[in-house]
Amino acid sequence: MGKGQLQTEKLPRHIAIIMDGNGRWAKQHHLPRIMGHRRGSESVREVVRECRQLGIEALTLYAFSTENWNRPKAEIRALMALLKKFIRSEMLELHQNNIRVKMIGDLSKLPEDVMPAVREIMDFTGNNTGMTLNVALSYSGRDDILRAIRNLVADRRTKASDITEDFFSSCLDTAGQPDPDLLIRTSGELRVSNFLLWQIAYSELYITDVLWPDFGKKDLAKALRDFQTRRRRFGLTDEQMRNG
Ligand code: IPE
Ligand code: IPE
Ligand code: MG
Repeated sequence: MGKGQLQTEKLPRHIAIIMDGNGRWAKQHHLPRIMGHRRGSESVREVVRECRQLGIEALTLYAFSTENWNRPKAEIRALMALLKKFIRSEMLELHQNNIRVKMIGDLSKLPEDVMPAVREIMDFTGNNTGMTLNVALSYSGRDDILRAIRNLVADRRTKASDITEDFFSSCLDTAGQPDPDLLIRTSGELRVSNFLLWQIAYSELYITDVLWPDFGKKDLAKALRDFQTRRRRFGLTDEQMRNG
């Protein structure tokens, strides 16, 4: 996996990625934006395979934000068509690799014609145990939190004192999964853009200038090597961490 060994016992359990830069990639190549998205879906394939091979437990990919609904209609339509195509072409291989695919976000906002594919891949791969691939669609961190709160308020059985951090985590779209240890953003933007807000409280951040369609397993390895140099203290002192 390239220069510098990866320590297999020090890999993140959960990796989250803000896949940004498809538009810039297309512009660089004098192509329409959708071609950037199409190339971006090849990066998805490569990164998913690599994470599975490394034994990563969960991978969360930010594919479409609630704010992305404000993009031009034609781009949204093309992205939704690409999503359907991706599901159809990848479902079998994902299943064969024992990957459970979970679409997270406010799926009620998705166009009716993409829902059968979305439901199908979640049902088909739902019992797989090798890795969880969360695809964030019509997702935002604030919306994730608000939907959880609305459900709690509607339920009425929950007492205020029941609402611990662990309990609240179990009300979010990523219920049952560890928080991301590593958050990667491509294309150099130094912001979170409303991705997993609650879940990234203690994630290590890795931002690269590489555009998402150019991001491959070498870049992933680089991010992981960087992650392995981090000292995660979770608010404690170095000394406390050493005496662990
Ligand atoms: C990320 O690429 C994909 C989505 C947000 C759907 P962009 O489309 O944001 O690419 P840039 O930021 O314009 O380069
Ligand atoms: C974040 O990228 C959303 C996804 C990668 C799906 P954006 O391109 O939408 O983010 P901003 O607008 O640069 O913050
Ligand atoms: Mg962008």
